[in-house]
Amino acid sequence: MGYRPQSLSMGRDGAPFNRTEWGKLEVSSLSVYKAPNHQDDPFKTMTASVLVLNGPNLNLLGTREPEIYGSDTLASIEAACRKRAEDLSLTVEFRQTNNEGEMVGWVQEAAGSHQALIVNAGAYTHTSVALLDALLAADLPVIEVHLSNIYQRDEFRQQSYVAKAAEGVICGLGGLGYELALEALAQRLGTVKEA
Ligand code: DQA
Repeated sequence: MGYRPQSLSMGRDGAPFNRTEWGKLEVSSLSVYKAPNHQDDPFKTMTASVLVLNGPNLNLLGTREPEIYGSDTLASIEAACRKRAEDLSLTVEFRQTNNEGEMVGWVQEAAGSHQALIVNAGAYTHTSVALLDALLAADLPVIEVHLSNIYQRDEFRQQSYVAKAAEGVICGLGGLGYELALEALAQRLGTVKEA
């Protein structure tokens, strides 16, 4: 079982996020935590694994409505995230599906294998109570991301079920939003020092 922060209290009530309760040790520019699995070597830099889930039609990025979603492909966003994750002592796993049930299954599995989720659920954002329930059950920190600014678009896109389980929502910044979500999670999980 990997590292998991003891305090997952932030977010759902809209409160700003808190750091974990573990004692903090400053080592050069990084903050490391005496997490249970590092008791033998408290100076070892903490790492955490983030699952990045992408919903329907996001496999078409690059050619899909570029005036709304830009020209980045999902592969290029993933590459940028991998690079950024290295600097943040995070590992990332990227997945995309056009199937709601598959996405729910991945969220269920993540509870035992990852420490946080970044979710761009595409159209399921606006429709899927099943995805919301899975996210609530997983009880991991979640950052919701959208490439477009959903609040400038159709009314039906301005409601998000995912947001009810998310500690933060980033939208309208294209692929950069995923990288900013990684930064927020690195601070949240304590793999890097707060700015
Ligand atoms: C999206 C916004 C959704 O409304 C839409 O259905 C998508 C992409 C975004 O990233 O901007 O598929 O999640």
